[in-house]
Amino acid sequence: MELSRVEIVAVDDEGAFWDDRSAVSASLRETPPRVPAYFGYDALGSDLFESITELPNYYLTRVEHTLLQRHAEEIADLIGCERIAELGSGSAKKTRILLTACAKRRPTTYLPIDVSREMLAASGRNLTAELPALRVQGLWGRYQAGLAWLRDRNEPVVVTFLGSSLGNTTSEERDALLSEITDTLRPGDGFLVSVDLQKPAQVFETCYNDPPDQPAFARFRLNYLAHLNRRFAADFAPEYFYPRAHYDSTTTTVQVHLYATEDQFVALRELDLELVVRRGDSLNVSLSHKFHHPQFVADVSARGFNLRAQWIDPVWQYGIFLFVRSN
Ligand SMILES: C[S@@+](CC[C@H](N)C(=O)[O-])C[C@H]1O[C@@H](n2cnc3c(N)ncnc32)[C@H](O)[C@@H]1O
Repeated sequence: MELSRVEIVAVDDEGAFWDDRSAVSASLRETPPRVPAYFGYDALGSDLFESITELPNYYLTRVEHTLLQRHAEEIADLIGCERIAELGSGSAKKTRILLTACAKRRPTTYLPIDVSREMLAASGRNLTAELPALRVQGLWGRYQAGLAWLRDRNEPVVVTFLGSSLGNTTSEERDALLSEITDTLRPGDGFLVSVDLQKPAQVFETCYNDPPDQPAFARFRLNYLAHLNRRFAADFAPEYFYPRAHYDSTTTTVQVHLYATEDQFVALRELDLELVVRRGDSLNVSLSHKFHHPQFVADVSARGFNLRAQWIDPVWQYGIFLFVRSN
């Protein structure tokens, strides 16, 4: 009997990170209160995110998909394809295009890192069913824990970070994450990362807000509150909040807030925390930084990388970049 080619390794305290009270308490005590971004991706949230990628104005997934379809063979030639890790792999639907090109060339080990165990298991099953030369070792946990696991192995690896997810971080988080990626890679290893490039505000505000009658973002974002309710015995009333995304051109970041429609008093019993929420107050549930092309390349290069190749769509909306760790 063939051994399963999918294995899930718990790299972050067997899922205890979901109950990391100190991280959630600290961000809820900020002004305005913030919910850590990964909190949106419980099993339900991970499914709800997939509906966002199908919205007509959500160009990110479509443009990246097209870039990968066009250039996967060339990327596969450049990255070697032996071991490919991915930060925040989700459904891995787009990564599948690259893995298909890789597994044609040689046996490939894919190491997706994600907080969603369900997504790791489902994507691992689907990918190995399609690609006989692929083995999947899913690293279940937060980015830092997955990178630490890779560092301990000290083997050649390409780290991929697709979906412009590097932008879903504050500048401090981004600095820390890029440093960890640098420390994880050995000279000659690759870092394949995609980012969404700067554009007029209106493009982002259309992209990150729901079109009429398709509440995909609303469902995904209100699930943050439902998740807090379940996990920390809280009593947010999601029906008294609505989501809105604004582009802040000073920080070139899309900020997504849930706004209260009523005055409320919210108790999070297991966090020993009470929030007084006035009508019009908001909670920050996500952010998406938009990158300035030359600055992004300079910032990553300054951390000990050389840009090997880049693939950008014809109207410069979105780019995929391959950096190689220098000596
Ligand atoms: C926006 S989705 C993108 C998924 C996929 N890369 C794509 O491009 O469609 C972000 C993914 O990253 C995962 N994620 C978010 N924050 C994370 C963290 N701190 N550590 C590990 N996974 C995280 C989520 O579970 C989700 O699957």
